[in-house]
Amino acid sequence: MASIRELFLSNVAQVVDQPSGLEIERAEGVYLYGPDGKAYLDLISGISVSNVGHSHPHIVKAVQEQAAKHMHLQVYGEFAVTLQAKLAEKVLAKLPSNFGSVYFGNSGAEAIEGALKVAKKFTGRTGLVSCEHSYHGSTHGALSIQGSEEFKQGYYPLLPDTHLMRYNNFEDLEKIGPTTAAVVVEAVQAESGYFPANPIWLQTLRQRCTKMGALLILDEIQTGMGRTGTWFAFEQYDIVPDILCLAKGFGGGMPLGAFVAPKHIMDVIKANPILGHITTFGGHPVSCAASLAAFEVIESNPQWLEEMPKKSELILRKLDHPKIKAVTGKGLMFCAHLEDSADAGKVIAYLEEHGVISDYFLFAGNAVRISPPLPISLEELEQGLQTILDALDAQ
Ligand SMILES: Cc1ncc(COP(=O)(O)O)c(C=O)c1O
Repeated sequence: MASIRELFLSNVAQVVDQPSGLEIERAEGVYLYGPDGKAYLDLISGISVSNVGHSHPHIVKAVQEQAAKHMHLQVYGEFAVTLQAKLAEKVLAKLPSNFGSVYFGNSGAEAIEGALKVAKKFTGRTGLVSCEHSYHGSTHGALSIQGSEEFKQGYYPLLPDTHLMRYNNFEDLEKIGPTTAAVVVEAVQAESGYFPANPIWLQTLRQRCTKMGALLILDEIQTGMGRTGTWFAFEQYDIVPDILCLAKGFGGGMPLGAFVAPKHIMDVIKANPILGHITTFGGHPVSCAASLAAFEVIESNPQWLEEMPKKSELILRKLDHPKIKAVTGKGLMFCAHLEDSADAGKVIAYLEEHGVISDYFLFAGNAVRISPPLPISLEELEQGLQTILDALDAQ
């Protein structure tokens, strides 16, 4: 009989030649467990998803209760879905008062797609500006604004009138002009290797958008839900975006995305024509229940955010090794950029063998990811970091 790994490799569509193919039976807190009971310390939270840890009992209970009440009933936007209404109220309460409307989707890419459409319709313009080395999703619109030519090959034609600027580069802000509908940017650029925005640059970018009448779409798909030490990273930059995109940790482990905007901007999708953006599953009641529970878990554990600077400091202090060129990041999202003498692939394989989960970045060549669940203790974090150092020593 074929093993699960063999069935996975032969029947499930693959996106790389040699995936890890690791089998996990269950996960709890900051650990994943294989079928043989082997424990793996999670240093990446399923790429910034499992912010509150795995299988948190409050989220599991919320999911079970909602699944038992009802799952999908009707397509998005028709019925007054209890959990959507409660979650939208919760999200808006966390944001500045200009935000007034939440559109629920299923994923990060969908949040970006919806935000791009709303910006085009609201401004009556087509220009889209984004950053080199940015990743906003794999669908056609999100791919069109992706900051890497290599990944677009084979998929043209994509959206026209897209323009790339360099992240943290002041000169390139000139690319935002009178035909720009929207600028899509991250407060910490994720897939280039967790590079935080220069606050003055992000503030100047905000001013430039306002001056040119372009909407600022902030992709907080990885940075949201406390990952940088505040609910949303923009709170630390003294700016307010026009549209905020959320997903990953927002769903509390379930598939959920959202874009949030002022009501008068969001309302462009409900008239001329009606149904400007629709989805069957967006805002699924069970996903919304998990998300609401995730908000509650973070609210009832304020120490996770308060104590985060100690964890950031530990990462920066501990990752001092001749084979580490630089460590970049913020909060609990860090990237160890390796010297040429080290190989990220070998480090990640060593970590897995020694019971620690890490991963690559899309656009940071030789680098290792550290973005554990927020409840990780200092001792657990130190142990994970030590295993990274051991992996480097072993090369
Ligand atoms: C910053 C950022 N934006 C958007 C996305 C797309 O999200 P999804 O994979 O849910 O479509 C990702 C996914 O990795 C991301 O890291």
